[in-house]
Amino acid sequence: MASAATVVVLVGSLRKDSLNRKVANAVIALNTTPLKFEFAEFGHLPLYNQDLDGDNPPSAWVTFRQQIRSVDAALFVTPEYNRSVPGALKNALDVASRPYGKSSWDGKPVAVISVSPGAIGAFGANHHLRQSFVFLNMPAMQQPEAYIGGAADLFDADGKLKNETTRDFLSKFVQSFATWIEANRKR
Ligand code: FNR
Repeated sequence: MASAATVVVLVGSLRKDSLNRKVANAVIALNTTPLKFEFAEFGHLPLYNQDLDGDNPPSAWVTFRQQIRSVDAALFVTPEYNRSVPGALKNALDVASRPYGKSSWDGKPVAVISVSPGAIGAFGANHHLRQSFVFLNMPAMQQPEAYIGGAADLFDADGKLKNETTRDFLSKFVQSFATWIEANRKR
């Protein structure tokens, strides 16, 4: 029997009261799979600059790359900025994708949940991420898709999910992801 898979969670918003962070916390709190989740923070990473990526790259890059390398899979929970991926999250993708030929993302199963107070659930960010996953050789779960719209109304004053339909959906989503990871993780 394989050990429980580890999943790194990247939240595409850096702000304290982030709706995306609340959704990520709600997914983890479901506890309906053996998956082991850990957050990866990336707001402090220097912007990717290939000139810095020689023998002595920034220590924050090295630590971040090691964290991504150490897990079995990744879950992205992200807002949409101007119909695309927030810059900090794109930088994190780029940092861990280098140096060339040594991408920490390579082969890791991945899933995306996109979250917005708006109606279309950050579809643009969700699909721009998927475009990067193709190049990064990350098998991305296709179904169920997760576009969480109207997110400002989903949580109570303590930041807990109060919407049962969303809870049931996220539960199905994470169970499908666990199955996807088992089918695709590197051994
Ligand atoms: C946004 N927002 C936004 N929302 C959306 O649905 N589509 C979009 O293209 C954008 N664009 C956008 C750009 C920038 C720079 C900001 C700051 C915001 C609104 C966004 O969805 C909202 O602020 C969310 O609450 C952000 O997610 P967190 O921080 O709550 O997790």
